[in-house]
Amino acid sequence: MKIFLDTANISEIKKGAAMGVIHGVTTNPSLVAKEGHKDYKAVVKEIANLLPVAAPISVEVVSEAVADMVADGKRFYSWAPENVVVKLPMNAEGLQATRELAKDGVRVNMTLCFSANQAILGALAGVAFISPFLGRLDDIGHDGMQLIRDILAIYRNYDFKTEVIAASIRHPLHTIDAAKAGAHIATIPYKVLEQMLKHPLTDIGIQRFLDDWKKSGATNL
Ligand code: G3P
Repeated sequence: MKIFLDTANISEIKKGAAMGVIHGVTTNPSLVAKEGHKDYKAVVKEIANLLPVAAPISVEVVSEAVADMVADGKRFYSWAPENVVVKLPMNAEGLQATRELAKDGVRVNMTLCFSANQAILGALAGVAFISPFLGRLDDIGHDGMQLIRDILAIYRNYDFKTEVIAASIRHPLHTIDAAKAGAHIATIPYKVLEQMLKHPLTDIGIQRFLDDWKKSGATNL
């Protein structure tokens, strides 16, 4: 399983990358706007420099016509060809743009997937990644994790190469359940990474070891 950070916050990406557990980053217009970034190109280049070589960075188009999606996608790709994966919406235009971009070897992450049928269409169009939004389904009383399981089962039946990104993750249990389901990737907010790392018994244990060591007067020199 791989973990991507779902953020456009440079300091979070720096911290996650330093731990060596981050294999990629997903951004979207809301995340970029939240950070107040004005220059998307500079941000993407900076992120690419922080991550391991060829780590995927999803960069989302905000255009709606196929020709504009393709043009934007190619421009994003030129910023960091080893890293950039173009994020396109799950609709007819997104599927068509996927095929056009594939001709130039540009990979697509199809976003805003809310059904297994959409995921089938994405895989048939040849997307490299599909992003089912499990948290947003949970928010409206549906079972987001069941969608992840369904998509994985269907993809296995036909040996589709599309990788499933469990997206819209809200808490650490989502990460565990996505891993148990066999999702290729979970893209998580930095807060969830911190929650995954922390355990009160670990903190208590570290403190106890330090206190006992001090009391003993022993040395490690
Ligand atoms: O990767 C998709 C993700 O950013 C959506 O998350 O929390 O806005 O539903 P959220």
